[in-house]
Amino acid sequence: MNIVVEGKAYIRNKIEHVCIGIEDGKIAKIAKILPKGEENYKFSREIILPAGIDIHVHFREPGFTHKEDFSTGTISAAFGGICCIFDMPNTKPPTTTKNAILDKIEIAKRKAYIDFGLYAGITDENFENIRDFAKYCNAFKIYLGSTTNALQLRKENLKDFFKNAEEFSDKPIMIHAEDEECLNKHRIVENNLIDHLRARPDVCEKKSIQTVHNCKSKKNRIHICHVSSADSIEFLKEAKGDISIGVTLHHLLFSINIKRKTLPDSFYKVNPPLRKKFDTETLIEHLTNGFIDVLESDHAPHTYEEKNINFDEAPNGIPGVETMYPLFLFWFSKNLISLGQLVSLISEKPARIMGLEKGVISEGKDADLIVVDLKNIQKIKAENLHYKCEWTPYEGMQAIFPSYTLVRGTPIVEEYILVGEKGYGEHIKTVNEEE
Ligand code: DOR
Ligand code: ZN
Repeated sequence: MNIVVEGKAYIRNKIEHVCIGIEDGKIAKIAKILPKGEENYKFSREIILPAGIDIHVHFREPGFTHKEDFSTGTISAAFGGICCIFDMPNTKPPTTTKNAILDKIEIAKRKAYIDFGLYAGITDENFENIRDFAKYCNAFKIYLGSTTNALQLRKENLKDFFKNAEEFSDKPIMIHAEDEECLNKHRIVENNLIDHLRARPDVCEKKSIQTVHNCKSKKNRIHICHVSSADSIEFLKEAKGDISIGVTLHHLLFSINIKRKTLPDSFYKVNPPLRKKFDTETLIEHLTNGFIDVLESDHAPHTYEEKNINFDEAPNGIPGVETMYPLFLFWFSKNLISLGQLVSLISEKPARIMGLEKGVISEGKDADLIVVDLKNIQKIKAENLHYKCEWTPYEGMQAIFPSYTLVRGTPIVEEYILVGEKGYGEHIKTVNEEE
């Protein structure tokens, strides 16, 4: 074996003391005892878990690299226990053509510390010609409501796109569900989070999810991103079927009346908006009972200066790729979520949705592991995170960061220190991709 990792690992739904033998980046053998490898790690106090997969980040490259780029974004992800990210298309230029996708793949290949995949954005301009670019992307992203830098697809075109997408049924279709007509009806000048919620009420989210549900065919694989309201959950309980559901950390932890607000309201301005306490409670209930499929960070960084302006003009978005898994590891340590649920939400289901050989500690899978000392609880501090934006809405909150993050058997973070290399991250091959 190239590497043997020994310790208490989460395998087949329980913690077992094992040796994990790694060869060529894959888990080759799991056994009680293994002969020594070329490199050996032994953990006695810690637990070994599958690394996380974040299917929703905005790493801002190309075009907005003053906010983040593929290096700072993937370094932050690795410190947060994430081995693989999927990057959203609202960059400059937007990722809506074959060339834009191929260019972004090249940039990310040079700069990423962890593995990555890319979304193609679907717009009124390209939905009829997806054959031109579909085979180069890992999945599709649709914005049904306007938001920061967003591309848009009018709902009138949704059914035709879904029909066109049937040919690429291996690629999931991720939806930002807010109904544009509904948003237009509620538009007001906004001074704070309460106004932002008035301007983007839950009825707009539910309406948009209903539209998607009505337009989709059996061959489409739909994922509703960042579901944020109790009403949407109620609708999806009736209608979910094979639709998968993601929620973000900020919609679970914050409502418009944030208890521990460390920054002005504009820093918490995000789309979909933060909602009411009842919504967060409903989301948490459906996260812990298994109804929600995926935790996604929707890491959407803007600089401190960009956010620190009057509310109405401030851009939407909250950073979170580095704090998502650590905050939930803290939840686990307090018995607020089971390890099985957490691993399913952050590793197993994202891997299944994206068709990855990742997300579980099992022979044949990529050796993407994190090592966690549950006793090492830390307070989140922006100055210790690795974002370009240098702020976090979770300042002062308790979290458990991994001491190691391994991607395909290679440590990217080791003893809480970055040891990975720029350009190590691999592009997740798409099924139809030409070499
Ligand atoms: O708040 C948001 N920010 N929502 C989005 O849909 C886009 C994102 C961004 O890119 O900043
Ligand atoms: Zn997003």
